[in-house]
Amino acid sequence: MIAKITSHHRAPSALQQTVQNGFIQLYQSDDEAIRKELAAGLTAPQAHTSPKYLYDALGSKLFAAICALPEYYPTRTEAAVFDAHLHEISRSAGRGCTLIDLGAGNCEKAARLFPALQPVQYVPVDISVEFLREAVELLRCRYPHVSMIGVGMDFSSELDLPEQVRDERRLFFYPGSSLGNYTPEEAAAFLGRVRDACGRDGGLLIGIDLVKEAALLEDAYDDAIGLTAAFNLNLLQHLNTLIGTDFNARDWRHRACFNAEQSRIEMHLEARHNVTVRWPGGERHFAAGEGIHTENSYKYTRERFLGLLERAGFGKVRTWTDARGWFMVCHASAL
Ligand code: AVJ
Repeated sequence: MIAKITSHHRAPSALQQTVQNGFIQLYQSDDEAIRKELAAGLTAPQAHTSPKYLYDALGSKLFAAICALPEYYPTRTEAAVFDAHLHEISRSAGRGCTLIDLGAGNCEKAARLFPALQPVQYVPVDISVEFLREAVELLRCRYPHVSMIGVGMDFSSELDLPEQVRDERRLFFYPGSSLGNYTPEEAAAFLGRVRDACGRDGGLLIGIDLVKEAALLEDAYDDAIGLTAAFNLNLLQHLNTLIGTDFNARDWRHRACFNAEQSRIEMHLEARHNVTVRWPGGERHFAAGEGIHTENSYKYTRERFLGLLERAGFGKVRTWTDARGWFMVCHASAL
C-alpha cells in the first residue's frame, strides 16, 4: 500500500510523506530550494557544497567501503570502544529504548547494539533513501523480532520525526563522529534540536572523533588506494543528476588537509586545469588549482565537546574512549 499525505501544518516547505511497508519517506517537494542552495554554493567566492550531497546511492556504498580502510580509524576504534564497554554503555543508555539512528547508512553500527540494548522500536534515519530502504529490508530478515520503521529524510536542519516514532524513552544514536560535519555553532544548535526531540526521558548516544596528530588525520581522509578520493569525486556526478551541472570528474582532484586553527579536516575538489562548469540557470569558471570545499570534519577535545552537550541541555554525561584516546563514545541524558 502506498499512501501520499501532504501535511499542511508543515508550511512553508510543503513536506510530503510516502508510507510503504514500514518505510516513511519525508521529502521536500521543492527541488527549487536544492537548486538554489547548490547554485549559491557553487558561485560563492570560495565554492562550497553541503556534505550531505556526498550520499547518493553510490556515495553511501563508497562511505561503507571507506569504513573498512586501514587508514580510516574512526569506525574501527569506535566499534572497539563499544565492544570493550558494551555492558556499561547499555546500562547507562537503558534497555528497551526507542532507538533512533541518525544517518544510519547500512545500519550496521546500531545492529551490533541490538543484543545489549534490546530496543522496543528501531528507527533508522538517512538522507540516502534508496540505500537505507535496502538496508532496512535486510535487517528485518536478520532481526524479525525488532520492530523497525525506516525514515528517509534530511535531518540536518530540522528534526521533525513522523508520528509513527514512539516518544517513550527515545535514545538518539549519532555514531561515527558525523557531528563533525557541522561547525561547532551548528553542532550546538543541532544537539539542541535532538534534546528537544528527546522528550522528558530521552538521551543521546554519540561517537566523537578526538584531536590527534595531523598526519594520522590526513591519511584517514586521503587513503592510499583512493577510496576517499572516489567518494569526494562522486559528489560531482551526483550534482550532475541533481541540478544538471556538466562536471567531468576527470577534471578534478581530491585534496584533504587538517586545518589546525579550526580543528577540522577539510575536503576539497581542486580543478586540475581551467574549467567552466555550466548548469541550467548558471555557470562558474574555476582557474587551475581553484577548489570546491565539500566537507568539514571537526575534531574535538573531550572538554570542548562536553561544553557543547551542556549548552544543548544534556547532562549526566558518561564517556568512554580507547587506550590511545583517539575516539570517544558519550551517553548523555536530556535534562
Ligand atoms: C560520516 C561525516 C563521519 O567525517 O569522517 C569519511 C565522512 N569523509 N571520509 C567523516 C567522511 C571522508 C565521515 N562522517
